[in-house]
Amino acid sequence: MSFCIAIDGPAAAGKGTVSRAVAEEFGFAHLDTGLLYRATGAKTFEGLSPIEAAKTLTAEDLARADLRTADAGQAASRVAAIPEVREALIDFQRAFARRTGGAVLDGRDIGTVICPDAEVKLYITATDDIRAKRRFDELTAGGAETTFDHVLADLRERDARDSARAAAPLKPAEDAKIIDTSDMTIDAAVAQVVAFIKAQR
Ligand code: C5P
Repeated sequence: MSFCIAIDGPAAAGKGTVSRAVAEEFGFAHLDTGLLYRATGAKTFEGLSPIEAAKTLTAEDLARADLRTADAGQAASRVAAIPEVREALIDFQRAFARRTGGAVLDGRDIGTVICPDAEVKLYITATDDIRAKRRFDELTAGGAETTFDHVLADLRERDARDSARAAAPLKPAEDAKIIDTSDMTIDAAVAQVVAFIKAQR
């Protein structure tokens, strides 16, 4: 039996942490779909066209060490606006969503395009400032040298591009539950999401 949990939202809203915790709680597989776009974007650094990069994505590409950088995030957001790139990545995501045993997918268009019939749809968000603060803390804890203003500008640019594009723009599905984590710790957000999913099952 399959069971799909779709988790969408803007950058650094806590989707990744919540998705991993939910997958662990229910014993489901987890796919961070942002990685597919980051890996596609990173392949264009080596001169491949975005469409060719998406069509030839391998497990090795997804394991690259440089996918979490701001440059890879920006490249991801640029290639993600190209319809043929999104098209090339659909089958893999849909098969993952319907694998036996349950799946959690997080991204921007999971509840709207990839898995519109998901059993649970969540849209996780937080204010720009809070999201930038969390991402800034995470980056500096990892030794990166950056400023809060730089991180904030980067998130805003990416969100604006992701929301304005014609192909699968960032937006909540009509039937998604919206969870604003601005005034919560991530642990509290995880607890709320787990309770919500248990009530749906
Ligand atoms: O989630 P993450 O920040 O890793 O995503 C990087 C970029 O990939 C996003 O800014 C967005 O442009 C793109 N993306 C997307 N659709 C998804 C997941 C990510 O367009 N389902």
